[in-house]
Amino acid sequence: EIGFFFPPEQTLAVIKPDTQHKEVILDEIRARGFTVSRLKDTVLSREMAEEFYKEHRDEPFFGQLVDYMVRGPCTMLVLTKENAVDEWRAAMGPTDPGEARETAPESLRARFAKDILQNAVHGSSNQTQAHDKIHFIFGDISSENEAVSPALEAE
Ligand code: PPS
Repeated sequence: EIGFFFPPEQTLAVIKPDTQHKEVILDEIRARGFTVSRLKDTVLSREMAEEFYKEHRDEPFFGQLVDYMVRGPCTMLVLTKENAVDEWRAAMGPTDPGEARETAPESLRARFAKDILQNAVHGSSNQTQAHDKIHFIFGDISSENEAVSPALEAE
């Protein structure tokens, strides 16, 4: 049988402030075949949120997005899976939950997002960004492997 092989990859996922059903979302993440390699709840400082979203600093919604992201704890996750970056973006669905409900009704945003701002989850958009954001949130975890990861002890 001929198939495609994707090496294991990591992405940064965030369950955003005030998202309902966080535990259901975590169960969904695992059910979809992602390994939760790291997990921590963090309230971002304004400075960190601005840095985290610096790619969007010229967007008209930047201020609102930062205000929202510092409002309460975020659940920060490192997810590991083959093709994790793209797989996690597919699992989230489109940014706008209205569009998500139309085009990807099983997606997490279709089911759990309130609106385009409070859209439940974030995911890195490419591997470079995933690497940078994982480092930004968790520091250097490159020397750690699954066996020594303290991920689930953090819960
Ligand atoms: S991406 O990752 O660049 O493809 O996503 P994009 O659709 O450009 O959106 C980037 C992030 O900005 C948020 N966003 C908004 N917030 C408030 N109002 C409006 N209109 C709006 N449009 C986009 C969106 O939720 C994305 O946040 P993250 O955390 O990256 O998902």
